Amino acid sequence: MLDFTIDVETCIGCGQCASDCPAMIIDMETGIPTISKELESFCIGCMHCVAICSEGSVQILGYSPLDGIALPSDKMPNPEQVELLIKARRSTRKYRDENIDSAMIDKLLEVAGHAPSGHNDRELLYTVVDDKGIVYDLREEAFAGLEKLIEEEKLPEGMEMFIDIIEAWRKTGTDILFRGAPHLLIVSGLQESASPLHDAIIALATFELYARSRGVGTIWNGLATLTMAELVPLFKKRLGIPDNHQIGYVMGFGYPAIQYERTINRGKPRINRVTLK
Ligand SMILES: Cc1cc2nc3c(=O)[nH]c(=O)nc-3n(C[C@H](O)[C@H](O)[C@H](O)COP(=O)(O)O)c2cc1C
Repeated sequence: MLDFTIDVETCIGCGQCASDCPAMIIDMETGIPTISKELESFCIGCMHCVAICSEGSVQILGYSPLDGIALPSDKMPNPEQVELLIKARRSTRKYRDENIDSAMIDKLLEVAGHAPSGHNDRELLYTVVDDKGIVYDLREEAFAGLEKLIEEEKLPEGMEMFIDIIEAWRKTGTDILFRGAPHLLIVSGLQESASPLHDAIIALATFELYARSRGVGTIWNGLATLTMAELVPLFKKRLGIPDNHQIGYVMGFGYPAIQYERTINRGKPRINRVTLK
């Protein structure tokens, strides 16, 4: 049930909602937008109809135009601010030993939830460890799981780096595996959705940038992803991730114990410009 409702007092019949609807299911024949019952199932729930309406006349799926933030152009961050945010994002590998307030974590996740997804499926699960004590316990379990693999000679070829990573932890307490992050975010996608892995990565990239704007550091964690998604399979169950979900990636986060003083110069990206010569 879409609950597609038009305020006929304010609707000006401009048809913008119909022309922007990716499913092309909004009909303007009567001058007022309608969606027939037979076409309702084609709606992907993107809410472009609500977002585009200049009069705020459209409601759908129980949301009203008042649930969103109005977008006058002077409200947008300017390009310099956005560029700075992108260039100031760096991997954080040193963290303060403290929990982030759960209201802040909820806010970071709420914003990340606005990331786009294939077919607007939005079938992601944000598995978050919001207590550093639990991260410490998980790290011990991860190391124990990796050690067991090594003992049983089951560490796959090409993964020998884990031997040194374990040694660094056991001998000096250097945490190369989780990089000392007090929190973990594991985004997984429903296997049957249109693009579970891509959706998860995009959500994490969104999370990371917004986190930077709130003074929260992040680290994309390939080693933890390998450990949790492949090498020590009990982790998926342990973290409460359903069997029919694929882990997209693991990200560590927390308040940084370091501060970067400047952006760097990455040089020009490699560009392949199509000319059809
Ligand atoms: C997919 C991916 C996996 C990564 N895995 C790790 C990792 O396991 N451990 C780590 O310390 N850094 C990891 N990184 C961080 C990269 O080393 C880092 O992004 C890169 O050196 C550029 O530095 P910057 O993020 O500070 O700009 C990963 C980054 C990406 C994008």
